[in-house]
Parts: sequence; C-alpha cells; structure tokens
Amino acid sequence: MAKLVVFDHPLIKHKLTFIRDKNTGSKEFRELVTEVSLLMGYEVTRDFPLEEIEIETPLTKMKSQVISGKKVGIIPILRAGLGMVDGMLQLIPTAKVGHVGVYRDPETLKPVEYYCKLPQDIEERDLIVLDPMLATGGSAVAAINFLKERGAQSIRLVNLIAAPEGIKAVQEAHPDVDIYVASVDERLNEHAYIVPGLGDAGDRLFGTK
Ligand code: PRP
Ligand code: URA
Repeated sequence: MAKLVVFDHPLIKHKLTFIRDKNTGSKEFRELVTEVSLLMGYEVTRDFPLEEIEIETPLTKMKSQVISGKKVGIIPILRAGLGMVDGMLQLIPTAKVGHVGVYRDPETLKPVEYYCKLPQDIEERDLIVLDPMLATGGSAVAAINFLKERGAQSIRLVNLIAAPEGIKAVQEAHPDVDIYVASVDERLNEHAYIVPGLGDAGDRLFGTK
C-alpha cells in the first residue's frame, strides 16, 4: 500500500482555517490555496532524486547536489484543481502541466470525464495530480484511471481536504498512488459534501454560484 501523508505543519493548519471560513472571499481564497499548495509541494517532492555536480564557489571548487533531471507532470483535475497549480509550479517551474476535466454529476454523484490534454511523454514523468477535495473519491479514481490508460507509471495525489471515504476509494482502486492531504475531515453529508470541509471548492475559487 502506498503512503498516506497528513500534514501537521502549523502554517498549513493556519491557512486552512481561513480557506474553510465562509467569510473568506474568492481573492483571498485563491491566494491561500496557492500558498498551501506550495507548502505541501515541499513534502510531495521530498523523495526526488539528487545528483552531484561540480561548481565553484568564490573560494573553491566543490561537489554539490541538484535535482537529477527528473521529469514532472502537474495534473490539475478541472476545475478546482487549477487553484493548486501556481503554488506547485513555483516549486517545480520546469514541470509540464496536463489537464483532466472531470465533474461530479449532481444527481448520480458519479464522475463524468469531459476533457483531457496531457504532455506526450506522461509515461516518463512523475505525475502530481491536484484537486482540493477528495470526497467520495469518484473524480480522483476516474482521473487516475484516465492517466494510467494513457501510460502513466508514477502518480501521486495531492488534496487539501479529504473524507475517509475518498481516501479508502483511492487506496482500493490505486494502491500504488501516494496520497498527500492537509486534513482528513469527519465525513460526507447526504449530498456527498465533505463536513466540515470548505463548501464547493470550484465555486469558491472562481466566484460562481
Ligand atoms: C469537486 C472537486 C473534486 C470532486 C470531489 O469537483 O473539485 O473534483 O468534486 O468529489 P468526489 O471525490 O466525490 O468525486 P466538482 O465536481 O464540483 O467540479 P468543479 O471542480 O468543476 O467545480
Ligand atoms: N466537491 C467540493 O467542492 N466540495 C465538497 O465538499 C465535495 C466535493
């Protein structure tokens, strides 16, 4: 079974409080989601391999470490995953970005795929899938299926808030995928919204509704 990492950094907890607060408007919400994504990216990239290169400081030659030419793909699940892209790109500016469009049908609550545009060489890349919410897990499982059908070999999933049901669904369907979350909340309500959660992530990011 792959890793489940639940963040306990005070900065992430602090910022998540204001992300959850219903009085936080879209501008501040977007900024906070970017900041938390960047902070999470620090841990998501912890196992990236290093190689030594030789450089010269003003005093002497030395061998020093750099990230070894690992290729990364950042894959937001549309729409709400878009909010996490900038933070992650600030840490990994050479990453390519692919988009997977999945929305949850409000009646059936089942994921519907509507868009997919990926870097051509996804099989060679470490893919970081982004979505603020992991509720039933239907959208994440479908997006990861989509990526694997197109050849993806290495996938990690990053969410701000997850319900236990969503974590279980991803772990069962994709036991090879590491999951990184800022919080595991209590439960889903009867509309499959995460409680206490933050409401509808897409609407809060983009000011719709
Ligand atoms: C939200 C969220 C996830 C999904 C989570 O997207 O961003 O993609 O719901 O729910 P699940 O785990 O039960 O599948 P939504 O369907 O609201 O689409 P949007 O991002 O376009 O608003
Ligand atoms: N999608 C959201 O945006 N919020 C939830 O709580 C669940 C699914």
